[in-house]
Amino acid sequence: MSPLAAIDAIDALRVHFAARLAAGRETSAIAAELHNILARLAHVDFSRADEKHLRPSGHPVIRQLQQTPPQSAEAATEPIFRAFLPQLDALPWRYSYTPRPDAPDIGERMAWAELVGPIAPFHSHDICLGLTAIGPRLLYPRHYHPAVETYLVISGTAAWTAANATRRHPPGALILHPANIVHAMETGDEPLLAAYAWTGDVETLSAYEDGGSAAVSYAPGKPNRTGPSAMDLA
Ligand SMILES: [Fe+2]
Repeated sequence: MSPLAAIDAIDALRVHFAARLAAGRETSAIAAELHNILARLAHVDFSRADEKHLRPSGHPVIRQLQQTPPQSAEAATEPIFRAFLPQLDALPWRYSYTPRPDAPDIGERMAWAELVGPIAPFHSHDICLGLTAIGPRLLYPRHYHPAVETYLVISGTAAWTAANATRRHPPGALILHPANIVHAMETGDEPLLAAYAWTGDVETLSAYEDGGSAAVSYAPGKPNRTGPSAMDLA
């Protein structure tokens, strides 16, 4: 993935977040976090990219996305969809929880591609920004982390659970996970493609509620399903 393509995709997200703020229809908590995200992104140096983090990963989640391609279903997120979709192969996908006996192939069916963060093409210790992909008919089990997390659904309507309440969120939905809230996602027949942002403590890894957390051996540019930055676990 070229640095310019990565910047275009990040810019599409920034424009969308700014438009959502300007429209004034979000909850006060989401509006405050969107403001926080934009303020932190304003301090990221986009003039220099660490290109070792822009090499295609070869992660098997790409096969999942090719088998059931994500669909653009929401006009407001169309520019983001257009910016990311041609780059899916080229994004630095990874997955880094320790293996789960009850979901032995989960690491091949979901992954994250981080563009801004402590270990990412554009460096920051204040914010992480990237894409999450979850293949069809998969449960991303209950997990938590101290970072405040915002998701923007780009494609796919999945069941989202937080604080024991479950809702189906369509493309265009913004979902806010406060620090350490336990949350989960479950897809149906279509894959989920969502942008995420982490703020606050972006260094502490996520953990499954029932045990199991990040392993730590990240080799950028190589297929990686056991590696780790703070953000491996959006
Ligand atoms: Fe999360």
